[in-house]
Amino acid sequence: MVEPLMTITNLKKHFALKKNVFSKNVIVKAVDDVNLEIPRESIFAVVGESGSGKTTLGRTLMKLIPPTAGMVSMDGKDILTLDKKAFLPYRRKMQIVFQDPYNSLHPRKLVKTVIGEGLKIHFKGISEMEIRDKIREVLLQVGLREEHMFRYPHEFSGGQRQRIAFARAIVLEPEFIVLDEPTSALDVSVQAMVLKMLQEARAQNALTYLFITHNLSIVDYFANHLAVMYLGRVVETGSKAEIFDHPAHPYTRLLMNSNPIPDPFLKREKQVVRGEIPSPIHPPSGCHFHPRCPFAKAECKEQEPQYREISSGHFIRCHFPV
Ligand SMILES: Nc1ncnc2c1ncn2[C@@H]1O[C@H](COP(=O)(O)OP(=O)(O)OP(=O)(O)O)[C@@H](O)[C@H]1O
Ligand SMILES: [Mg+2]
Repeated sequence: MVEPLMTITNLKKHFALKKNVFSKNVIVKAVDDVNLEIPRESIFAVVGESGSGKTTLGRTLMKLIPPTAGMVSMDGKDILTLDKKAFLPYRRKMQIVFQDPYNSLHPRKLVKTVIGEGLKIHFKGISEMEIRDKIREVLLQVGLREEHMFRYPHEFSGGQRQRIAFARAIVLEPEFIVLDEPTSALDVSVQAMVLKMLQEARAQNALTYLFITHNLSIVDYFANHLAVMYLGRVVETGSKAEIFDHPAHPYTRLLMNSNPIPDPFLKREKQVVRGEIPSPIHPPSGCHFHPRCPFAKAECKEQEPQYREISSGHFIRCHFPV
């Protein structure tokens, strides 16, 4: 097997919350014991309902927030323990694009500054000429034009701003990009074009994406690997083909059944699974999903299921896979 680009081992991110000055801290296990291997040059989708920990996973493995426990290795190196200086090359190799293109770009900076400012930090001694050339090149790659570098972000539509945010990421020649719901704030007609651009840029630059989304139709169209999260845990992961053909966790099945539209661009709504998502502060005992699971038995309430491999590369956290 090809070495994965990234290996995530027992990763945890817990937040301590204080309701008021008299109360004790309560712990939110936003990411709880996550184990994943992200193949090189793959599009690895992370799906799950709101609050399942997708964004926290992305931010923790980018080292934007400190982990509670666990390891993330990239090219065989444990990156979470590196100090600031040693991490600097990885800061460049790993980029993130956020959901909201309106808040993620500085309104008073020209596009050329927005895209170019990271270059001076990461490519010491780069000339103004080289910066200009690189900006021109990435603008064309994301489907914009050279003269756009002299405009301000507010002069662009949402889809164009997301292209600028993506250009800012790829100009640093990264290997890995977290895309956190990059198209969910966009009109449906624009989504398709931005996804196509992302797909072409991935191939052209040999990139690996961690693609966070609510939309399984987009996963089907776009991704080749998939992890399903529920209350901070990965409940199922594997290749997209395997999971779409043989979903084994009842939660994955319910997500798929509630998302039957084959065309990813017809709907942008979130999946609806029967029942409320339980509070992450007091998650259910045993298997977190048992109160909503149509197949739950006594054991599911009492015992936490182990994370185990049911076929090559297909992992699941369930006592009674379907
Ligand atoms: N800084 C924080 N402090 C405390 N709790 C947090 C913090 N960030 C996230 N959480 C909690 O962690 C859990 C996971 O949040 P996260 O934003 O990662 O979910 P998500 O899957 O990205 O959801 P969405 O689909 O709504 O974006 C939630 O219960 C959230 O309230
Ligand atoms: Mg999120």
